[in-house]
Amino acid sequence: MKKRILSGMRPTGRLHLGNYVGALENWIRLQDMYFSYHMVADWHMLTTDLKHTGDVAENSIQVVIDWLSAGLDPKKSPIFIQSHIKEHAELHLILSMLVTVARLQRNPTVKEQARDLGLEAQMSYGHLGYPVLQSADILVYNPHAVPVGEDQAAHVEITRELARRFNHIFGPVFNEPETVLTRFARLPGLDGKKMSKSMNNAIFLSDDPKDVQKKMMTAYTDPLKIKKDDPGHPDGCVIMAYHKLYLPESAEEIECDCKAGKLGCVAHKRQLAQKVSSWLEPLHERRTYFDANRDEVIDIIKDGDMRARKQAQEVMGKVREAMQLG
Ligand code: TRP
Repeated sequence: MKKRILSGMRPTGRLHLGNYVGALENWIRLQDMYFSYHMVADWHMLTTDLKHTGDVAENSIQVVIDWLSAGLDPKKSPIFIQSHIKEHAELHLILSMLVTVARLQRNPTVKEQARDLGLEAQMSYGHLGYPVLQSADILVYNPHAVPVGEDQAAHVEITRELARRFNHIFGPVFNEPETVLTRFARLPGLDGKKMSKSMNNAIFLSDDPKDVQKKMMTAYTDPLKIKKDDPGHPDGCVIMAYHKLYLPESAEEIECDCKAGKLGCVAHKRQLAQKVSSWLEPLHERRTYFDANRDEVIDIIKDGDMRARKQAQEVMGKVREAMQLG
C-alpha cells in the first residue's frame, strides 16, 4: 500500500511559475510515490475575500485546468474541491475545540497575512481559525505527509499538534503527518520580490511566447551593468535565478560570461524567454484541449470528489466512534 498525501492550494486565479516551482512541481514528482489527494481550497478564499465569492467556482475550475495541463494525473490521484466534501467542516468544528485562541494568535503566517492586508484589528473568527480548517482538510484524509512550501510549515505544525491532542484525549485515530518541503526555494518575480499575482510581477503558465518575451525584458537584473561589456553581478539577478532553474547545465558558464562582460542582459533575457516559452508549450497544448473539453474537467472533479468523500467519511466514522458521538 502506498502512503497517502494531501496537498492543497487556494484558487486565486491563473497559476504562475512561482506556484509551479513552489508547489506543483513537488506534487507532480510525488504522485508516483504516494497516493495523493489534490484539493482546491475554495473555502479558504472566504477568509480574506468576501466581495468576490461569485468568482470562486470558476477560479477553482481554472486552477484544476492548470494542474491538469502541468501534468497531474487524475487517474492516479483524485482532484477535488474542498467545499464539495462537507466532512471538512465537521472535523473543523471538532478540532476548533482542541486549540486555544492564544495558540492561533501566535501563528506567524496568519500574523503576517493580517499585517499585509491591514486586518490586524478586525480579523474574523474564521480567519484566525484558518490553520484549524487547514488541519481538518489534512486530517480528514489521515495522510502520512503534506507537501507544502516553507510559508505553510507553521500551519502543518498546528495540524500535528491537533492530531496529537485528539489522539491523547480520544485514542489513536490520526497520523501525525510529515511536512514534505518543496525542492526549490522561492522563485523571484520579475522585480526580484516574491512572485505574486497581485504584485504584477508574474509569468503565468498560460502566457504565450509574446507575453513571456515582453515580461522577461522588464526583469530586474544587475543595475550596475549598463552596457554589455560592463562586468555583471549575477547574484541578485532575476534572470540568473531563472537560468539556474530552466537551463541548469549552462548556469555556471553563463555566470562567468556575465561577470566577464561577454554577455549582455538583453541577449540573456531573450535566451531565457525562449527557453521558458518552449518549456510552456506542452502545457499550452494540454490547456487548449481542456478548455475545449470542459465537460471532461467537470467529470474529473466529480470523480475526485467521490473518491475523496469515501476516504473522508471513513475517517469521520472513526472520529465519531472514538469520541462516542454515536
Ligand atoms: N493554506 C494553503 C495556502 O494558502 C492552502 C491550503 C488549504 C492547504 N488547506 C490545505 C495546503 C491543506 C495544504 C494542505 O496555500
